[in-house]
Amino acid sequence: MSTKLLIQADVTEGKINKNIYGHFAEHLGRGIYEGIWVGEDSSIPNTKGIRNDVLEALKQLHIPVLRWPGGCFADEYHWKDGIGPREKRKRMVNTHWGGVVENNHFGTHEFFTLCELLDAEPYICGNVGSGTVQEMSEWVEYMTFDGESPMTAWRQENGREEPWKLKYFGVGNENWGCGGNMRPEYYADLYRRYQTYVRNYGDNKLYKIAGGANIDDYQWTDVLMREAAAMMDGLSLHYYTIPGDFWLGKGSATDFTEKEWHLTLKRALWIEELIEKHGTIMDKYDPEKRVGLIIDEWGTWFDVEPGTNPGFLYQQNTIRDALVAGASLNIFNNHSDRVQMANIAQTVNVLQAMILTEGQEMIKTPTYHVFDLYQVHQDADRLSFHLETDNLTHGELEYPSVTASVSKGQDGKIHISFCNLDDTNDVQVDTELRGAAAGKVTGQVLTANEKDARNTFEKPDAVQTTAFTNFTKHDKGLQVTLPPMSVTVLTIEEG
Ligand code: AHR
Repeated sequence: MSTKLLIQADVTEGKINKNIYGHFAEHLGRGIYEGIWVGEDSSIPNTKGIRNDVLEALKQLHIPVLRWPGGCFADEYHWKDGIGPREKRKRMVNTHWGGVVENNHFGTHEFFTLCELLDAEPYICGNVGSGTVQEMSEWVEYMTFDGESPMTAWRQENGREEPWKLKYFGVGNENWGCGGNMRPEYYADLYRRYQTYVRNYGDNKLYKIAGGANIDDYQWTDVLMREAAAMMDGLSLHYYTIPGDFWLGKGSATDFTEKEWHLTLKRALWIEELIEKHGTIMDKYDPEKRVGLIIDEWGTWFDVEPGTNPGFLYQQNTIRDALVAGASLNIFNNHSDRVQMANIAQTVNVLQAMILTEGQEMIKTPTYHVFDLYQVHQDADRLSFHLETDNLTHGELEYPSVTASVSKGQDGKIHISFCNLDDTNDVQVDTELRGAAAGKVTGQVLTANEKDARNTFEKPDAVQTTAFTNFTKHDKGLQVTLPPMSVTVLTIEEG
């Protein structure tokens, strides 16, 4: 099998917005509580209630932006329940996720503390489904207003003198479903109304994100763009990779068939078509591509781990997830003219997580390692390239064996990320570099021998990155040999 990659190193195609490497953390299962927030009195070492091990691991990823508090939870969340002395905060039911008690100990102040500790931009999702215009408007005032006002005074009473800087604000979540079961026409009108009162105070300029389509609901995108494009900065899109059926059985995260393996990869790659088709509709109303496509929920969604709460969405994570992450991020990078942000679901203990915890213990998933490897693309210049690769065929399923993206980082180095989706064969990539000469080349690879390879609390480093040296330089570029089911990042210094 042979694959050819031609890189035009002196032709850039815009910047890869670092926010493509964004994350999402919802009040769902053990995502926030236990996974991130343990409270100041916990025996688990913490900083201001946030567990140190998770914090340190996430810091290494340089998460650019973090979306909170949902998801479906956002349209049931009333922010005023989550401020003030913790012991006095309302205990409520998390109706959407498992019917468990939500004690509101992690609220606005705690979220901003987390973002400050991570040095990540906060992205807050407001409540349209069950919240009022006034409630949303007052939340923004509470967070960002500096002058004299009841909300400023309240924030100061709660211990925060200065307003926070907040850029990203979502006006509702999945308003076609859990966010109110609305029709696009109705939501478009509500969006116009709610966003009117989402004010810019002082020099705090908000980037307003309208609730976008589910998967291939192109009609939703069309109506939103037609009715409200002028009043938004971003429009979201949600797409989850599910090898089975959402209601009848999604498939196991670890115990899957050959067919489910291929279906997972095939379906993950579908996001490219979704981006292109939603993008074409957006182009009709916004040819300048001012409005960003914000893929603020994506990733694998499997059946929960046996014996765990079905409402907690706790799933293991294998090399298959790593390939989904790598291939999806390559696609987002390659569409960075429209894709301005993406937030994988969800950071800790939920869906395609970076991190899993059990009591005091914590492990990094294969997906974590992909985000670690791909950091080099954050805010890098996307380089023009052409990739020719064979298709893999499994029954009626056909998909490319290799995907790639190429960028030039702020460090002046060229970075190539490759995913070899072939589960059995090495792939030779004949890589030609035009417009630059290759000097020192280094690489790192994430791969495994078994399709269900994963990290566990017993073997936390079963899947981890190692140095990659399987390449040779020649006068035109490089000959690279990618192992089966691998994610590889090569760094080329010009020489
Ligand atoms: O990420 C889990 C859920 O998936 C979110 O709450 C919702 O927005 C989506 O349906």
